[in-house]
Amino acid sequence: MERIAELEVMDDEEQARGYAKADFSEGHNRFVALFRDIFPDTSPGDVALDLGCGAADVTIRFARALPAVRVVGIDAAEAMLAIARDAIAAQPELDGRIRLVRGHLPEAALEAQAYDIILSNSLLHHLVDPHTMWRAAQHYGKPGAPVFVMDLRRTESREEARRLVARYTQPTDAPVLINDFYNSLISAYTPEEIRAQLDEAGLNHFTVQPLMDRYVLVHGRLR
Ligand SMILES: C[S@@+](CC[C@H](N)C(=O)[O-])C[C@H]1O[C@@H](n2cnc3c(N)ncnc32)[C@H](O)[C@@H]1O
Repeated sequence: MERIAELEVMDDEEQARGYAKADFSEGHNRFVALFRDIFPDTSPGDVALDLGCGAADVTIRFARALPAVRVVGIDAAEAMLAIARDAIAAQPELDGRIRLVRGHLPEAALEAQAYDIILSNSLLHHLVDPHTMWRAAQHYGKPGAPVFVMDLRRTESREEARRLVARYTQPTDAPVLINDFYNSLISAYTPEEIRAQLDEAGLNHFTVQPLMDRYVLVHGRLR
């Protein structure tokens, strides 16, 4: 099935609220657990960059699981960042270890080659130009930095997308969220497309791994 692109930035308040209210704990905890399995050797003082951090749910779970690491989250949507700020403020034990930056990749005002870890969950399928993801990882990550990207993968048909939506949403979920999930499944990149993106970016040593019935995991270290 051909990709049908979703809107890039989630700056609509209703959409941001619907997304932030959803329970992503299973997927987001899995994100953190898989990162720790694959890259167990983080160091005290490391700074991670979370590309497309949204409402910072992954950012917060990551910071809680790795208490010696600081995290910078970047997102283009003020509607998402406003929710993220409240979520972080509600967790004083994070002790200022998360900083949020508003910026539209690839033009974000962040220091180049400054980050020890590059993370991203569910951003890739939003990007008009997917090369933005791989360029950002290379531009902001220090040489040798682990890059860990998880996203949905595109279904083979609209029917398959509808089946997944029926399986993984509840009738009580916000309609905007149900709609977003469907749109994300049909705008996601396939593992083959991601492989081609990585080859073009000079990251052909990265691993691309389909995960469960709807995700894809991409990981590797910058050279
Ligand atoms: C589906 S949300 C994922 C949020 C978060 N990472 C999570 O897993 O909950 C995608 C986020 O990427 C942001 N985004 C999309 N394109 C972007 C860009 N070019 N630069 C920065 N943020 C972007 C959107 O505004 C949105 O908040």
